Parts: sequence; structure tokens; C-alpha cells
Amino acid sequence: MATTLIKNGTVVNATGTASADVLVDGETIAAVLAPGSVLLGHDLERSVDTVVDAAGKYVIPGGIDAHTHMEMPFGGTFASDTFETGTRAAAWGGTTTIVDFVVQYAGENVLDQYHLWHEKAAGNCAVDYGFHQILSDVDDDSLKAMDQLVIEGVTSFKLFMAYQGVLLSDDGQILRAMQKAAENGSMIMMHAENGGMIDVLVQQLLAEGKTDPYWHGISRPWQAEEEATHRAIMIANLTGAPLYVVHVSAKQAVQQIAAARDAGQNVFGETCPQYLYLSLEEQLGASGPEWGSFEGAKWVCSTPLRARAEGHQDHMWQALRTNDIQMVSTDHCPFCMKDQKDLGIGSFAKIPNGIGSVEHRMDLMYQGVVTGQISLPRWVELTSTTPARMFGLHGRKGVIQPGADADVVVYDPRGHTSIGVGKTHHMNMDYSAWEGFEVDGHVDTVLSRGRIVVDGGDYVGAKGHGRYLKRGLSQYLL
Ligand code: URP
Ligand code: ZN
Ligand code: ZN
Ligand code: ZN
Repeated sequence: MATTLIKNGTVVNATGTASADVLVDGETIAAVLAPGSVLLGHDLERSVDTVVDAAGKYVIPGGIDAHTHMEMPFGGTFASDTFETGTRAAAWGGTTTIVDFVVQYAGENVLDQYHLWHEKAAGNCAVDYGFHQILSDVDDDSLKAMDQLVIEGVTSFKLFMAYQGVLLSDDGQILRAMQKAAENGSMIMMHAENGGMIDVLVQQLLAEGKTDPYWHGISRPWQAEEEATHRAIMIANLTGAPLYVVHVSAKQAVQQIAAARDAGQNVFGETCPQYLYLSLEEQLGASGPEWGSFEGAKWVCSTPLRARAEGHQDHMWQALRTNDIQMVSTDHCPFCMKDQKDLGIGSFAKIPNGIGSVEHRMDLMYQGVVTGQISLPRWVELTSTTPARMFGLHGRKGVIQPGADADVVVYDPRGHTSIGVGKTHHMNMDYSAWEGFEVDGHVDTVLSRGRIVVDGGDYVGAKGHGRYLKRGLSQYLL
């Protein structure tokens, strides 16, 4: 078993920082020691296989992106990152675990889909991976499958309140799935947007000739998000199921979640970097030379980017500080402009929804530390420790402590990262939603279960190193 000593760094956990050396033995962290420690009479530096000098750098638990869609079938195409390309890009960006969504479309068998996702991922991943299950056909069979999946380590289920006829579950189906979750201890994840409202607005806008990507945002107003969030909270309240609202973008939805939490309910919220940094006006209001007014398709995702003038982004940063929102994932769902996003030329409703960011989340969220929006431990908590606790991985992932998997990132705060300029990203996309972002900080070295997969910024990992993570029940419940 190979041993590695990461010396002289500042170890950052969600609980605080310390100057310490980290000893890795095989796949796990063996010890966190005072710098320069001697162990059983041995000078560690001379007795280990590899020494990583982390002087002046942060040593943090590898990022956990609990919301990705590799190869997701959507809108007549597939998300452009495979498990191979997507997890490699994740590693490059300091993310050592993803939790991806198995999709059940109406009419499909849940367990068949679950096995299909294993086939897609097995042998292909650079870093470890787990699964959530999307249910879009809540019936006796899928309710039974929920019990089976919990045993298999799939302890969270995503439902949709939008996309009628494709993914949407009605309130009765949501009620039944939540009753099952309350019974078997699993988590319900909710895409909270009122699909009925949205479908009518889409038809009205298209009929008025408003077909450009900008109108996608107008067709999915904050009222649709707030209403659905409230409804999901009420159904969860009735059933006792824990509720995790995904990709929250509206200030008003945050307020619904905060109110439920204040009342003692197990309700949690996730946001994504795009809802902190990007906006409807700046990204979709502009028309660029190469794509005409269709360029905004790069940022078409649901929930949509919101108007900065309405204060959503500022409120979201505040919610990260106050823990009204508990975690940041990417909702990584990349589509190329050519042959994918361009399916929606002439109708924004046909643009495949999604943005790719799996590689950039750690850097983008570190900017919150640089600008004083969040503390260093909070950065680690939002991107790694809470995701581990929320989704049943605590102890193995999300913490630098003896016994945990040696998923470790050496992060250089004096480094610099140019995001998405030319070919500086490694996701399988022909553009970047983050084009032109210049950020402080740099992922230098990444270990995934003890193996160095990124060395001085170069990828040195291997396809198939990543293993399936059988997750436990949430360790974050009130
Ligand atoms: O636009 C998005 N978010 N695409 C991915 C699917 C989803 O709803 O999470
Ligand atoms: Zn969603
Ligand atoms: Zn998603
Ligand atoms: Zn560097």
C-alpha cells in the first residue's frame, strides 16, 4: 500500500483550520499530525513513498458534487459529458465525488434504469460516484423499488413538479413518494417549479413570436418557483418526509425554505454557482456576434438565471452565510451549442436545459472566500462536508480525519485560474458558461482514495479508478 505525506499545509475542515501534516496510507487518511511529527521513531518524510509539499496552501477534503447529470437523456439528446469525461473534469477541479441522477422517464422500469446507470458508470469514472434516483412515474412498482434502492445505497429520490408528460409528478404522486420516504428514511429531492403555470406562459410567449432564449427565463418566473417550493414543503410536512429542494434560484423560494426550517421541519436547500454569479440580464439579455440573439442558449437552465435587479443573487450569498441554504452543487448538465442547444433555434422551449460547471465549482466558491462572503471552513462545508452528511457519506467523505477516504485537495490560494477561455476547461463542451471568469486560487494536487489523480495541475488519474458509493441515510436531519 502506497503512503503519502502531505506536509506543511493548512488543513481546512468545516470545523476550522490547523497547521498539520496529513499521512495517507493506502486508500485512507492514517493520521493528521503536528507539522514535522516523528511517528514510532521514524522521520515520516523519509519513510513514505511520496511527499507533497503544501506549504502556503490549503489541504481540504475533496469536493462532493451531489448534483450531476452525466449522459442524461434530455430534449431528444444526451448531456455531452460521459461518466469518463465528466468525472475527469471533476477531478481536475478538485471534486472527488459526484452523485449523479438515474433517470426514470414515464413508462420506464425504475430498477432497469438503475442497472443501466451502473453499466454507464462502471469502469469509466476517475473519481468515486453515487446515485440518486429520479422518479417520474410514481406507482406501486416504483414505490416498491424505493425500498430496494435504499438497500442498494440509493437513499434519495428526485421528483419533478414541472415538465408535464415527461418528468412531472402530480401532487398525489408526490404525496405517495413522500409517504414512502418517511417510512424508509430516504430523502425526497424536489425540482420545485409550477409546471402548469410555466406550460401556459411558454405557449403564450411563443404565440407572440418571443422565441429567443431570453424568454425561457420569463416563462419560469420566481412565483412558479416559490409556489412549488411551498407546496412541496406542505406535502413533506404532512407526511414527515425530509425534503431537499434542488437548484434553488429565487429569493422567495429561499424564504419558504428558511421559514420551514425555522419551524423545525427537515427542509434543505441547494443552490448552484450560476445562481450566485450569473443573471438573466447579463447572460440572456445580451446578443453576441457569433450566435446572434441565440447566444443566451448557453445559459438556458431550469430553474432559470434570475434578474439581478430583483436581488436574488445577493440574497443567495446571504443564505449561504446564514445556513438557510446548506449546500452548493453544480447541476452539471452540459450540452454543446452545435447540434444540441441549437435544437432550440426558433423556439426556446426546445433548447436542452442545463449548464456545465462540474470542473469549476470549487474555484468559483473559493471566490466567496476571497471576497469575504463566506469563511474558509464554510467553503469546505458548503462544497464537501454538508454534501457528505446530507447524502449518507459522512465519515468516509467530506472531512480530513483519520479513517476517512484519502480524498484530498491541495489548493493554492496564491494561484490563479482562467476559466473557460479557449480550451482551458476539460468538460466535453464546445463553449463555457464561465467564459472570461478570472479567479484567485488554483487546484494543485488531488488525491482520490489515496491515489494522486491531479499533480501540479496535470491530470494523472485513470478511468475506472472511481468506485460506486453505497450511501447510507442522511446524517443531516434535525
Ligand atoms: O436545466 C437543468 N437543471 N437541467 C438538468 C435537469 C434538472 O432539472 O436538474
Ligand atoms: Zn431539476
Ligand atoms: Zn439537475
Ligand atoms: Zn498551481
